[in-house]
Amino acid sequence: MRHNTKSYYLKTFGCQMNVYDSERMTEALARDGYRETDDLAHADLVILNTCHIREKAAEKVYSDLGRIRDVKVGRKRDGKETVIAVAGCVAQAEGREITARQPAVDLVIGPQSYHRLPELIARTESTRKHIVETEFPGDEKFERMKAPRRVSSPSAFLTVQEGCDKFCTFCVVPYTRGAEFSRPLAKIEAEARELVAAGARELVLLGQNVNAYHGEGHSGRSIGLAELIRRLADIDGVERLRYTTSHPRDMDDDLITAHADVPQLMPFLHLPVQSGSDRMLAAMNRKHTAAEYIDLIGRIRAARPDIALSSDFIVGFPGETEEDAEDTLTLVKAVGFAQAFSFKYSARPGTPAATLDAQVPEDLKSERLQCLQALLENQQLEFNARSLGQNVPVLFERRGRQPGEFVGRTPYLQLVHAAAEGELVGRTANVAVTETRRVSLSGVIAAA
Ligand code: 5AD
Ligand code: SF4
Repeated sequence: MRHNTKSYYLKTFGCQMNVYDSERMTEALARDGYRETDDLAHADLVILNTCHIREKAAEKVYSDLGRIRDVKVGRKRDGKETVIAVAGCVAQAEGREITARQPAVDLVIGPQSYHRLPELIARTESTRKHIVETEFPGDEKFERMKAPRRVSSPSAFLTVQEGCDKFCTFCVVPYTRGAEFSRPLAKIEAEARELVAAGARELVLLGQNVNAYHGEGHSGRSIGLAELIRRLADIDGVERLRYTTSHPRDMDDDLITAHADVPQLMPFLHLPVQSGSDRMLAAMNRKHTAAEYIDLIGRIRAARPDIALSSDFIVGFPGETEEDAEDTLTLVKAVGFAQAFSFKYSARPGTPAATLDAQVPEDLKSERLQCLQALLENQQLEFNARSLGQNVPVLFERRGRQPGEFVGRTPYLQLVHAAAEGELVGRTANVAVTETRRVSLSGVIAAA
């Protein structure tokens, strides 16, 4: 017998874009009467929203699928059907290979086809055949996902741009997410209003290369990210704006100026540099040098002196020498980062760098990563230590683990724990910082 209400289990891997897409799928499924469960054994539908950026992330999907297949077999014995769907970038990149490697998978659905999810689930249920849907349709998937926006946190993601035309030689994104596409201003404003009405106070504008944003404005001409930010800042109730991820080459003067004169735009910038070696930057096809990056940071800091900077780094790109690795440390020292992510190079099938000679041995990569991370962690510790004794405005996002504890973020994206009576979630309050650590601060609510 079929349940009246079906349940689904959804697991999200990877970046914030996947988190956003999972939220949109959740909304579409809720509209179709599905309820979320965190118990696989009770799930009529299992969706893995996957990440293909590094090998580890992609392989994790297959080990999870093995486990899910066993649950599916067990449920079948009890007379219950289970639909297994693989979504996200592994779906896009590997398509039919997924059903070949794990035949228990029913549906493979790429990120540009999520508006067809309910229809495709129904089709797998009736035909019991593998379906692989990884087309790049020309129209806009988001507009076809008509379910109302909900927010689970006062800080809400809003995708404004997808895809990338940069073709860094290590990266799968131009292949998995396709060419750059910017949503029109009117659609973004409408979604922003919906999110604010649902309780959002902060909007995090997402795009694989978000500062390349060039959507259609109200007059029909194309506008850049700075203009988009100004329009969104005009919406009542938008207290904070952030955007991620950006490319140094697309950091134009207008956007730098917005950091100086839009009060809602938070003083935090994630601007990946990947390496401090010009040789590696050229081999990565990053289209800028270390000196150009440092100069750019100088101009951004001139506009907004207190801005907190964040970056991504790759160590052990093919051909990287000790000297190149040293150059990265030198750049990190010159810039001073508030936080950063760093990764060992992972050869991705289909990308130009994967077939280069001179792949760096794993133990060398590990050594260099350790060195870099030690420096970055030290900088983060020092950055946070500067907040000690300061009064900082914190937007509280959720309750903490301790009773009466709330967790929020400073304008610089630092995590803050503070205790309070009553409800703080969704409110911005000043916190006097009493303790700082590498990944978070603690403090007490200060009198307004
Ligand atoms: N190997 C290691 N790190 C990678 N990234 C992207 N592709 C690879 C790869 N093949 C990192 C980059 C990027 C971040 C999202 O992931 O640093 O900025
Ligand atoms: Fe990948 Fe970012 Fe380079 Fe685009 S700009 S290819 S998403 S690393």
